[in-house]
Amino acid sequence: MTTPSAIIWSNNQLQLLDQRILPVQCEYLHYQDPFAVADAIRAMVVRGAPAIGITAAYGMVLAAQQITNTPASVAAWCSALAPAREALANSRPTAVNLFWALDRCDQVIEEQGNGGKLLQALTELAVQIHAEDIQINKRIGDFGASLIPTDSIVYTHCNAGALATGGYGTALGVIRSAHRDGKIRGVFAGETRPWLQGARLTSWELMQDGIPVTLAIEGAAAHIMREHRPSWMIVGADRVAANGDAANKIGTYNLAIIAKHHGAKVMVAAPTSTFDANIDGPQIPIERRPAEEITHSFGKRIAPEQVVTSNPAFDVTPAQLIDAIVTEHGIIHQPNRDKVLAHLAAAQK
Ligand code: MRU
Repeated sequence: MTTPSAIIWSNNQLQLLDQRILPVQCEYLHYQDPFAVADAIRAMVVRGAPAIGITAAYGMVLAAQQITNTPASVAAWCSALAPAREALANSRPTAVNLFWALDRCDQVIEEQGNGGKLLQALTELAVQIHAEDIQINKRIGDFGASLIPTDSIVYTHCNAGALATGGYGTALGVIRSAHRDGKIRGVFAGETRPWLQGARLTSWELMQDGIPVTLAIEGAAAHIMREHRPSWMIVGADRVAANGDAANKIGTYNLAIIAKHHGAKVMVAAPTSTFDANIDGPQIPIERRPAEEITHSFGKRIAPEQVVTSNPAFDVTPAQLIDAIVTEHGIIHQPNRDKVLAHLAAAQK
């Protein structure tokens, strides 16, 4: 069995697998309105940096579909699409793939906005971004797997799998490729409070592929790493900065420190669309999510009324704690600014 697609484009309509209710229910929601797509991204119907970018591109297609009087110029298209673009851009702040995808849509508007083929061009772009992502993840998977010793235990956090991407996954792509190569004895998946992406999504994805997975709470990570000696901790990223720092799901930074203490190496698996060469780690915008996500559990209050809360959705792991960043173009060992910028420059050739 393979993991169902997080995103389906069919009959000029967008369908998103509702990841909030997985794995108990497997239901697709249908979208024809870009503002509803922005709400779906914010509400976590779809999540994971590459999947958010792909969804935003389809959101722009839906926005173009809604415009009945075809604008005659680039400027007219831009102003007609601006409200939807802004809603999509404001849906989640950390995953840079969202802005990368919207920028690619802007380029197409710039190139095609004076002719009558913009809707078709935007549709082709979104479909291409979606299809390319799967191939990119397979390449990341193979590069990453080359670093994994045989008979490895590995540790992962959140869900950087097929559900978080166009398919195959980044961190889980590495694990899939390494498992295919006979290198994986077992995977530990941290549950990932408060949305439980590890418990609900990663363990489900790996079980569907027959990859041996053990689910544990985050608080068990140090104990598990001492007992089971994982060779690598493998995670995805929402934004990799110019200096090699990487933002990922809250708790990744803790885990990188624990991994280092126990001799496990730290791998960040991410496409180059997740890189932001314009800023360093401390400047990465960190999404703050509603208090209810931690004061309530499954709709029921678990914390005292009026308790003060802090609910950052991401943290930034400093480059010094990262042994390898793996992209579709290869491996950046012991990342730093020079290596990251050289990697991105080579990728553009
Ligand atoms: O809040 P989420 O579920 O969107 O967070 C997802 C992550 O942190 C993933 O690890 C990251 O986006 C990489 S997905 C390939």
